[in-house]
Amino acid sequence: MPSRIPVTSQRGLHPRLDQTVLRHWRTSWRQPIRDHSRRAFDSIEPLATRACALILDTGCGVGESTAHLARLHPDALVIGVDKSAHRLARSPKLPDNARLVRADLTDFWRLVRAAGWRLREHALYYPNPWPKPEHLGRRWHGHPVFPDLLALGGRLELRTNFEIYAREFARAIALTLSQHAEVVSLRADNPVTPFERKYAASGHDLYRVIVNLDS
Ligand SMILES: C[S@@+](CC[C@H](N)C(=O)[O-])C[C@H]1O[C@@H](n2cnc3c(N)ncnc32)[C@H](O)[C@@H]1O
Repeated sequence: MPSRIPVTSQRGLHPRLDQTVLRHWRTSWRQPIRDHSRRAFDSIEPLATRACALILDTGCGVGESTAHLARLHPDALVIGVDKSAHRLARSPKLPDNARLVRADLTDFWRLVRAAGWRLREHALYYPNPWPKPEHLGRRWHGHPVFPDLLALGGRLELRTNFEIYAREFARAIALTLSQHAEVVSLRADNPVTPFERKYAASGHDLYRVIVNLDS
C-alpha cells in the first residue's frame, strides 16, 4: 500500500522555530537519563572507546542502514540506536563492526556527549516527521536535546520525505552554528532503509541535509 506524504497545516517554516531553537541553544537540558538508556550506553562504551572511528545511526529502525554503513566503513564501529525493541528484533545479519542498542536517543546523545566521543558520521535517516504544528518540539531541531546532537561532531546527514522538516533543520543549523546547510533532493535508486524504500516506491520526493559539524 502506498504511504502518505506527511500532511501538515504549516505553510512554511514554523512561526516559533527560531525562538524555540535559540531558547534550547542557550540553556542546558537536565531531564534525568533513563536507566535502560544508561545500561545500553555502558554496554557499548568499551567497544566504542577502542574503535578507531565511530558512526551513529540514529533511529535505525531494523538496522538495515546500520549494516549498510558498516559495510561502507569497515574500519569504523557503527552503532544503530533505536527505542523500539520490536524493530531491533527484526534486524538483518550485521557485519562484525556493527552493533544495535535499544535506548532513547534523547538520553543516548547526552551520554555520548558527556563521554567525549567524536563521530565520523551521524545518520538521521527518516526521523518521525511530527507534521502537526503543535508537535514542533518533537522534531529533533525543535527538541531541547538538539544542542547535544550538534555537539557530537562528524558529517551529519538528515534524510526525510517532509520538506518542511528538512528546511527547518537547515534553518536551525544556520541559527545555532552560523553554517549554511542546503536542502537537496535525494534520488533513492538503491534505498538503504525500509522507510526510504517505501517512500521511494510511493513516489515521494525525498530530501537530505548534510552538515559538517567539525568545521
Ligand atoms: C520513521 S522510523 C525510521 C526508521 C529507519 N531510520 C528507517 O528509515 O527505516 C523512526 C524511528 O525512530 C525511532 N525513534 C523515534 N524516537 C526515538 C527516540 N526518542 N529514541 C530512540 N529511537 C527513536 C523509532 O522507534 C523508529 O524506529
